[in-house]
Amino acid sequence: MKDKPEVLISQEEINEKIRISAERLSDELRDQPILFVSILTGAFIFTADYMRQMSTHCEIAFMSASSYGDSDTSSGVVKVELDIKKDISAYNVVILEDIIDTGNTIAKVTELLRARHPISLRVIALLDKPSRRINGFKADEVLFEIEDKFVVGYGLDHAGKYRELPYVGVCST
Ligand code: IMP
Ligand code: MG
Repeated sequence: MKDKPEVLISQEEINEKIRISAERLSDELRDQPILFVSILTGAFIFTADYMRQMSTHCEIAFMSASSYGDSDTSSGVVKVELDIKKDISAYNVVILEDIIDTGNTIAKVTELLRARHPISLRVIALLDKPSRRINGFKADEVLFEIEDKFVVGYGLDHAGKYRELPYVGVCST
């Protein structure tokens, strides 16, 4: 793998989509209780940028789930490694996910949180690879649909690396 992944989605494009999405969400849920649930580790940068574009109060909690282990292909078995402790029944929950691939991870997280009866529940994903889906999962909002390519940067990693890149890039192998 080369050292510098090629730019697929620039920092400016990401910022613009987040700004528009957060503005719409702020308008829709203004003055209502909002809890962002950020799916670690990949969504941490997306979450930080998204929250800073909100113009109404919002809270944050973190979850971590993994179906990948150490490899890049989904095992299909999703393990929740970090759960939120908060009672979510008084919140409009907004799950922020970095990328939806097979859909296994987000389907599991959504099912788990829905069972706790939040006021409302929605999923906003930075990236979506619809061609990879195996369970028909549809996010409420996707900022960028991409082809079936392995992407890194802006929080996403390959074997723990590249999360620090300010853009979404593709590794040429
Ligand atoms: P899923 O359960 O197959 O939908 O996988 C979702 C998770 O796999 C994401 O939250 C990412 O952590 C990881 N993932 C899937 N595709 C990529 C990619 O192209 N680059 C980096 N991580 C990925
Ligand atoms: Mg992830």
